[in-house]
Amino acid sequence: MASSKVFSSLITMAFLSFTSSLAFPGYNFGWGGTGHFGGGYSGLYPKFYQFSCPQTDDIVMSVLERAIAKEPRMAASLLRLHFHDCFVQGCDASILLDDSTTIASEKKAGPNRNSIRGFEVIDEIKAKLEEACPQTVSCADILALAARGSTVLLTKTSWSGDQSGGPNWELPLGRRDSKTASLNGANSNIPAPNSTIQNLITLFNRQGLNQVDLVALSGEFIGQVCVGGHTIGVARCVTFKQRLYNQNGNNQPDATLDRTYSNGLRTVCPKTGGDNNISPLDFASPVRFDNTYFKLILWGKGLLNSDEVLMTGNVAQTVELVKTYATDEGLFFSQFAKSMVNMGNISPLTGFNGEIRKNCRRNN
Ligand code: HEM
Repeated sequence: MASSKVFSSLITMAFLSFTSSLAFPGYNFGWGGTGHFGGGYSGLYPKFYQFSCPQTDDIVMSVLERAIAKEPRMAASLLRLHFHDCFVQGCDASILLDDSTTIASEKKAGPNRNSIRGFEVIDEIKAKLEEACPQTVSCADILALAARGSTVLLTKTSWSGDQSGGPNWELPLGRRDSKTASLNGANSNIPAPNSTIQNLITLFNRQGLNQVDLVALSGEFIGQVCVGGHTIGVARCVTFKQRLYNQNGNNQPDATLDRTYSNGLRTVCPKTGGDNNISPLDFASPVRFDNTYFKLILWGKGLLNSDEVLMTGNVAQTVELVKTYATDEGLFFSQFAKSMVNMGNISPLTGFNGEIRKNCRRNN
């Protein structure tokens, strides 16, 4: 008797959950709940908007196409925005919230200030989605879709003149938006450019990501398809100056940095001043999405310390992976796709947690 009651309650719950999902498509009554880390089962699924807003991806892609055609670097910036979102409280669009009486914006954090960009493109996507399907598609999902869409578009456009394609991936969806942001989290969880290999591994492990994810994701490779023959992703002088002049406090450049490359970098990045001058992350890549980044690291030409330590940091696994990806582009693409899914699964808000913001910059 008791067990049949339990059984019928379960059936009722399952039914309510299912019908509520249809009635309130913004709510995900998936089995995952919250608190899941990268790589684990997150409760997200690719067809989340299949009925509630089937045109979601088309709308995202049409805005991206225009934005990236106008400024190819935007693709790199949008990919990075998703990364900086996911590493702070999970992939919940906390990075998009502006300052308010209750919010200390993550935009002011060290790794983001004067650096992170692409907010206007996200606003435009959100405005179009609100018109088509009011309060249905979360800002957190828009960030994930924009990161994937940017990668896909870079491999298809005429700038590359090459249709060979790069990674695409089936993207689990259904994230909801946070009502909070964490300035402290942004300062402490996003890796710094002068990170040691141990710092990087610790910060990635904290998110449930492993060394394979670290190497595949941190290939700042997306900056490679570019107007000038090489890269659209750039770094400011301030993020690599230490390597050029005073790597270990003895007024000497980083010994692992190729000498000719280093001399060239000094012309854009003087010892004093010029902090906002920019240099491509990958100067040598031909105009296609490829694994050149890994070859450059092998040659001592990775721009950031955090790039080069994947090779020089004496961690056998990252060294092996850099070598493998430098020779096997297909493997790099497929691992990158998997790692992006893992990263996108970091602690999503689902069910009744969080909200679907109407405007990505503020809570409802
Ligand atoms: C391993 C840890 C990482 C560190 C230490 C790091 C650090 C940096 C730094 C310092 C810059 C230059 C920022 C500036 O000068 O304003 C940068 C740019 C960039 N990063 Fe990373 N990053 C890491 C991982 C990642 C990951 C996982 C992704 C993406 C999945 C990524 C994507 C990018 C892109 C695309 C750019 C160029 C952005 C633009 O041109 O607007 N990075 N990164």
